Amino acid sequence: MNIRAILSLLIFVLVKAKDSGSFIHPGLLHSSSDLLRMRSMVTGEREPWNTAFLSFAADSHSSLSYSIQGPDTIVTRDRKMSNVGNNHLAHDSVAALQLALMYSITSNVSYAALATRILVSWTNTLTIINGSDAQLAAALSGTQLVNAAEIIRYTYSGWSSEDIFKFENMLVNIFYPPTSQTTPTLEQQYPFEANWGTSGEKAIIAFGIFLNNRTMYQYGKSLINSSKCANLTGTINPEGQASESGRDQAHTQLGIGNLGEAFQMAWNQGEDLFSLVDNRLLAGFEYTAKYNLGYTVPYNESFYRCDAFLVGGPWPIISNTTRGMWRPIWELPYAHYGSIKGLSMPFTLQQIKRNSPDGPNPANAIADNAAWETLRFRLDPTL
Ligand SMILES: *[C@@H]1O[C@H](CO)[C@@H](O)[C@H](O)[C@H]1NC(C)=O
Ligand SMILES: *[C@@H]1O[C@H](CO)[C@@H](O)[C@H](O)[C@H]1NC(C)=O
Ligand SMILES: *[C@@H]1O[C@H](CO)[C@@H](O)[C@H](O)[C@H]1NC(C)=O
Ligand SMILES: *[C@@H]1O[C@H](CO)[C@@H](O)[C@H](O)[C@H]1NC(C)=O
Ligand SMILES: *[C@@H]1O[C@H](CO)[C@@H](O)[C@H](O)[C@H]1NC(C)=O
Ligand SMILES: *[C@@H]1O[C@H](CO)[C@@H](O)[C@H](O)[C@H]1NC(C)=O
Ligand SMILES: *[C@@H]1O[C@H](CO)[C@@H](O)[C@H](O)[C@H]1NC(C)=O
Repeated sequence: MNIRAILSLLIFVLVKAKDSGSFIHPGLLHSSSDLLRMRSMVTGEREPWNTAFLSFAADSHSSLSYSIQGPDTIVTRDRKMSNVGNNHLAHDSVAALQLALMYSITSNVSYAALATRILVSWTNTLTIINGSDAQLAAALSGTQLVNAAEIIRYTYSGWSSEDIFKFENMLVNIFYPPTSQTTPTLEQQYPFEANWGTSGEKAIIAFGIFLNNRTMYQYGKSLINSSKCANLTGTINPEGQASESGRDQAHTQLGIGNLGEAFQMAWNQGEDLFSLVDNRLLAGFEYTAKYNLGYTVPYNESFYRCDAFLVGGPWPIISNTTRGMWRPIWELPYAHYGSIKGLSMPFTLQQIKRNSPDGPNPANAIADNAAWETLRFRLDPTL
């Protein structure tokens, strides 16, 4: 274990000890010490953070000349209809977060001001998120947006309390219902399951923390523990096979990536979900990394997601569709299990060594997972 890992563990223990029932802020994907680490690694031109930062800063979503795509009154994500509003929301949410991180790293307030403009413009405009896939739209873009909002709220003074209050109402009234599938009128083709379910879980945990709503936060955690179709053991089996491993590797990565983000946010609140069920999530990353690196893995055709028939399952063999198309989801779990806890993740490590620094999500799925994880989550320079 290196010094940073020890410090990180120490901070975790202290945080846990002082848990008084209130939330720690900033405390979604990044705590204050995470933000400080990113800044000091980049300003100190340390690798791999510096190289990772140069490509992050060159991305259009990190730029002061980013042109806001929305805001839209209606965001529709639907299999049969135009998804223009959804695309605007996804890009703007990602931009808000990247700009907030640019502010943290460079201390240049122009980035915070632009991120705030994005938050305020959507808050003042959006009235509904609907369509067959509204849940994914609200959960995935919602997680990006609320992560941006958390950093801006607790590190920048230019977002007015009135606008923060309105943003909170938008989360509660517009994002939370489709995310949690609690809107009775919503036409849901699919229940709360598989990658939809884990997307919802991470978003509900994120919203709960931002809103300082312990009931909502606990509800998000309880879904991971015991929801009918998106619980941890139903999502990843003891060998690490995911319930969508037979479908394709893109949805598999989305699902395990979601759980990594959910666990990271709980960790920043002093709770260790990573160790649930004998580090079950670690097994999921290892199995998926191993298969995507080209190795053979055991496959149990009796282990698959709920309603698999809706998406072409159940599947007799593991799917090679999108095999080796790496998504940027690997550094977060490695930083935790490998660097902080000293656990072995040989296949995840092999993938990181081949493909770091990582970058954005795929263009057609820009808001799916945290992304840019080398910059944001890497703890150990010597991997
Ligand atoms: C912020 O960054 C922009 C773009 O690099 C630059 O033009 C501006 O002078 C910077 N502002 C401050 C306060 O450093
Ligand atoms: C979304 O909501 C708008 C406004 O109520 C409505 O006009 C539109 O038909 C809805 N779209 C879907 C796919 O439900
Ligand atoms: C917290 O969220 C729950 C939904 O999970 C809601 O029923 C409750 O009213 C919220 N509490 C407050 C104080 O807003
Ligand atoms: C849910 O929580 C119970 C009690 O803490 C635990 O025994 C069980 O393993 C958990 N299940 C999952 C899927 O995490
Ligand atoms: C967990 O999910 C699986 C299917 O995904 C289901 O068979 C199992 O009953 C669920 N567990 C609980 C506690 O609901
Ligand atoms: C395969 O998965 C099913 C469903 O989870 C389980 O009941 C069975 O024990 C598994 N078989 C093996 C060999 O692990
Ligand atoms: C992918 O799997 C299919 C069977 O589903 C097989 O026919 C094909 O050869 C495989 N492709 C590669 C590149 O392995």
